[in-house]
Amino acid sequence: MRKGHDFDFLRGDIVALLGESRDGLVRVKRIVQDLKDFSRSGAEEAWEMANLNAVLESTLNIARNEVKHKASIETRFGELPKVECLPSRLGQVFLNLLVNAAQAIGADGKITLSTGVESSDVWIRVEDTGCGISEENLTRVFDPFFTTKPVGQGTGLGLSVSYSIVAKHGGQIEVASEVGRGTRFTVRLPIRHTPAEALQTLVAET
Ligand SMILES: Nc1ncnc2c1ncn2[C@@H]1O[C@H](COP(=O)(O)OP(=O)(O)OP(=O)(O)O)[C@@H](O)[C@H]1O
Ligand SMILES: [Mg+2]
Repeated sequence: MRKGHDFDFLRGDIVALLGESRDGLVRVKRIVQDLKDFSRSGAEEAWEMANLNAVLESTLNIARNEVKHKASIETRFGELPKVECLPSRLGQVFLNLLVNAAQAIGADGKITLSTGVESSDVWIRVEDTGCGISEENLTRVFDPFFTTKPVGQGTGLGLSVSYSIVAKHGGQIEVASEVGRGTRFTVRLPIRHTPAEALQTLVAET
């Protein structure tokens, strides 16, 4: 009789455990997919038409655990056309900006990610309520090896690598900051990166 009860109890437990395992597997699968997106080597890299909101979401999946104990994250994604780009490289740019934002925040900060379209460009903005950047340093943040972080913590390469990736896309990266209030990085990318190709499409369509 007791045995029967134990089995009932176990059955309930097993169902719950299987549910949890499935949730865990879905999470792991998503993280592995995100890591694959990021780790794709330059050799296989191809220009793709990608949804940058989705690329940002992938970046967030990777960085969220690092960021969440310091800052709340708000996303304000606008509707974006697909952008001709190297998605894994742009993922790297977004990750650098996000990690910098988190590192600039002591505690209890806020990071806002927003996106939008302006004429033939898409823009992506990473805003933080961190320590800010002095006027003197503002002109140097994109220089290779410029870092204000302790030895062993920063190499000073994140922003210079990001700058060159964005430049490769024919885009720009801008920074605005106020010491003690926070920093805003804006990446602007042309929807089509080769004007000749865009023109060809236009001709083919008309
Ligand atoms: N969001 C930010 N808020 C305040 N300072 C920033 C921010 N982003 C960048 N900086 C400043 O710019 C410097 C250069 O940033 P960059 O990402 O290139 O290198 P790093 O973060 O120091 O090192 P790495 O990215 O290689 O680990 C930083 O050391 C910091 O002083
Ligand atoms: Mg950095």
